[in-house]
Amino acid sequence: LRVALLAGGKSGEREVSLAGAREVEKAINTERYDVRRYDPATDLARLVADAPQLDVAFILLHGPLGEDGSIQGLLDLLEIPYQGSGVLGSALAMDKDLAKQLYRHAGLLVPAWEMAGSADLDDPARLLQSLKLPLVVKPVRQGSSLGMSLVDQPAELVPALKLAFDFDDQVMVEEFIAGRELTGGVLGNADLTPLPVVEIIPGKEYRFFDYQAKYQAGATREICPAQLPAEVTAEVQRCACLAHQALNLRGYSRTDMILAEGGLYVLETNTIPGMTPTSLLPQAAATHGLSFGALLDRLLELALE
Ligand code: DAL
Ligand code: MG
Repeated sequence: LRVALLAGGKSGEREVSLAGAREVEKAINTERYDVRRYDPATDLARLVADAPQLDVAFILLHGPLGEDGSIQGLLDLLEIPYQGSGVLGSALAMDKDLAKQLYRHAGLLVPAWEMAGSADLDDPARLLQSLKLPLVVKPVRQGSSLGMSLVDQPAELVPALKLAFDFDDQVMVEEFIAGRELTGGVLGNADLTPLPVVEIIPGKEYRFFDYQAKYQAGATREICPAQLPAEVTAEVQRCACLAHQALNLRGYSRTDMILAEGGLYVLETNTIPGMTPTSLLPQAAATHGLSFGALLDRLLELALE
C-alpha cells in the first residue's frame, strides 16, 4: 500500500509532528507500506498531483490546519482515506469551547469556564467575579499547552490573556482543577476499545503539564497502567469513550482528564495524539499489547474500513 505520511505543517506543534514522523518511519512495516512523506507547509501541490497513486494517508499533524479538519477536508476531496477523525469531529475536538459544551451535554464533568473577549483585557473583573482562582488561560484552538498560563493572582490574568491571544483570536479562561492528571486512549471505529489509563506526573518544577514538561526527556513520569482502583479505571475509560462519541470521532483519540475530589473532570480530547517517544497513546497501546508498529497497522486498517 502506498501511504502518504503528512507531517510538519504550519502550527506551533510542527516540531512535535516531525519528531513523530521520524518514529513512524522507523516503526512502520515497510514490507506492507511504501511510505512517502509530504509536508503541507511546502508539498501540497505534490500531494494533490500524487493523489491518484496514493492508497491511504497517515496524518501526523497537530494543531491548526492539521488536526482541525482542514487537511481532512482536502483528503476527502482527493478521495484518499486517512486514519482518525473526519472534518466535523476534528473541528469540534480542536475547539475547546465547543468540545466542552458537547461533553457537558453528554453528562461529563468539565471545569467551569468563560470565553474571554477584548473588553476583558481592559477590565478583567467580570472573569475574576465569575470564576474562582487559580485559573487556566488557554487559546481555544491549540495543542501541547502552547499559549497556556496558570493564573494564581488577579494581576496575572491580563498578561495571560494577552499571551493566549497571540496564539488564537479565541481565548478561554477555566477554573484550575487540582488533582491527578490522567489520560484515556480509545481505539476502534464502530467498536471502541479503551486503552489502559496513563497517569502523568510532571516533575516538581512544573505547575502543570506544559510544553516543556511534555517534551523534555525525563521531565515527566508516565505510569501505565495508572495505579487506580478498578472502578476508577473503568470510569476513566467510560468517560474517554463517551468524549470520543460526543465529539463524533473515529478511529482513535486520547482524552485528558483530572481526577479531583469533586470528581473526574474532562479537559480535552486529542484527535491526533502525539507519536514521539515520550507520547502517551503509544505507551498505552504498548501496555495493551500493541507495539508501535502494530498500532500503526491497526490505525491504517481502521482508516481503510
Ligand atoms: N497535542 C499533542 C501532540 C498531544 O496531544 O499529544
Ligand atoms: Mg491537546
